[in-house]
Amino acid sequence: MKIKGVVLAGGTGSRLFPLTKVTNKHLLPVGYAPMIWHPVWKLKEAGAEEILIVTGTEHMGDVVGSLGSGKDFGCHFTYKVQDEAGGIAQALALGENFAGGDHLCVILGDNIFQDSLVEEFRIFQQQGQGARILLKPVADPHRFGVAEVVGDRVVGIEEKPKEPKSNLSVTGIYFYDQQVFDIIRRQKPSGRGEMEITDVNNAYIEKNQMSFGTFNGWWSDAGTYPSLAKANELALAEAMPFPNIPRKI
Ligand code: DAU
Repeated sequence: MKIKGVVLAGGTGSRLFPLTKVTNKHLLPVGYAPMIWHPVWKLKEAGAEEILIVTGTEHMGDVVGSLGSGKDFGCHFTYKVQDEAGGIAQALALGENFAGGDHLCVILGDNIFQDSLVEEFRIFQQQGQGARILLKPVADPHRFGVAEVVGDRVVGIEEKPKEPKSNLSVTGIYFYDQQVFDIIRRQKPSGRGEMEITDVNNAYIEKNQMSFGTFNGWWSDAGTYPSLAKANELALAEAMPFPNIPRKI
């Protein structure tokens, strides 16, 4: 089964205002490239030939200008507009036609990480159905979705809990089969008015169809000033990625 890539780069970027006053959060610099290049590159590196980019109306032109057709990355991009920032699951729902029944690896556009996804692609291909998430122990789990793990099973995820049941944050890298779109269709917005990806993941957990892996290398989101600074520092300490991308110097 083929795995297609999805990068979700909508949302308002309000926590990074005024940096996001005239541009999209995902075009801000992280290491040697715009933020969004990092998840795109991880998908390409793991073998995704087709990648969907979802972003808002305001800066779609700049996002397309930055990434292009995919030619420079050695893959093919499809673009979709999320009219309003109604949540991560709402943005993902826009990918149903793109998926066309294939499996997806979805990455939040502000997630920056060290590990390659090659092995994770292989594991999900072998799994064959359901979903898979990647966890990372962190010092500040209340900022994220937090997984409760019993033995080798995730038994539940809480979104930004005041009293986290573990230090295992749910990173913004998710694998789904085609059931994800029916799950989202049945879902209602949360108390904060968003279609939550955590509700989608809990639906797979209830069906007993969720597996998990753990990142060994570093991982950070880049959606706040401190986390953007951290992601930038970590990415700069790495070798320059994107080896084949032409640079105009
Ligand atoms: O980074 C991992 C965390 O991401 C997870 O642990 C949480 O469970 C998950 O809910 C999410 O939490 P955040 O509060 O960090 O999500 P945020 O609203 O910052 O959105 C993250 C990315 O998702 C953003 O960079 C672009 C995309 N997004 C978000 C929204 C709300 C969209 O494409 N459309 C949207 O409407």
